Amino acid sequence: MIRLIAIVDLDFGLSKNRSIPWSFLEDRRLFYAKTKNSVLAMGKNTFLETEEMPLKERMHCVISSELSLKHNGGDLSAKFQPNVQIFRTLPEVCAKHGDFWLIGGAKLYNYALEKNLVDYALITQVHQRHNADTFLTYFHLEKFSRKILEKNDRYSVSEFLR
Ligand SMILES: NC(=O)c1ccc[n+]([C@@H]2O[C@H](COP(=O)([O-])OP(=O)(O)OC[C@H]3O[C@@H](n4cnc5c(N)ncnc54)[C@H](OP(=O)(O)O)[C@@H]3O)[C@@H](O)[C@H]2O)c1
Repeated sequence: MIRLIAIVDLDFGLSKNRSIPWSFLEDRRLFYAKTKNSVLAMGKNTFLETEEMPLKERMHCVISSELSLKHNGGDLSAKFQPNVQIFRTLPEVCAKHGDFWLIGGAKLYNYALEKNLVDYALITQVHQRHNADTFLTYFHLEKFSRKILEKNDRYSVSEFLR
């Protein structure tokens, strides 16, 4: 089962200037609790641009068509073994790990959504607009049944099952 986890703004924005200014502590806690001891799949940019990567107690499947983690002229692939594996495509991750969390970024989320590969989504939505520059463009609500898990003045947390 492919489970997507993300935090978005009211426009389903994912980030602005390559960061997520609307992220907050409760959401980070939810992310850590849900993904602990799990397999995570992510695009190369999300892995390289997230300072805390790799995370403890999680297996990381990083997707790159180049099968490498080149950054600032060097290849970081060897540095992160054994908790980081590199795959050329998302279907290759599916073949190796039946059950995993898809944690971003924009390119990988939208690829999986467009191909109808996402079975479940856990989405925190802040009740504000932030002029985002990347979006969950292919997240079509009519494809999922929604259950609101939490709602307050600032944000809501919903799960979506296809
Ligand atoms: N709001 C949220 O919950 C959330 C979560 C995570 C990230 N983000 C945001 O997302 C942004 C990063 O998104 P992004 O689109 O730049 O990066 P990304 O999806 O993390 O990484 C893009 C790279 O990953 C590889 N890739 C992605 N999809 C692929 C596919 N279907 N097949 C093969 N390779 C694939 C490619 O690497 P190669 O070029 O090597 O082929 C591609 O250049 C950041 O601004 C971050 O803040 C938001």
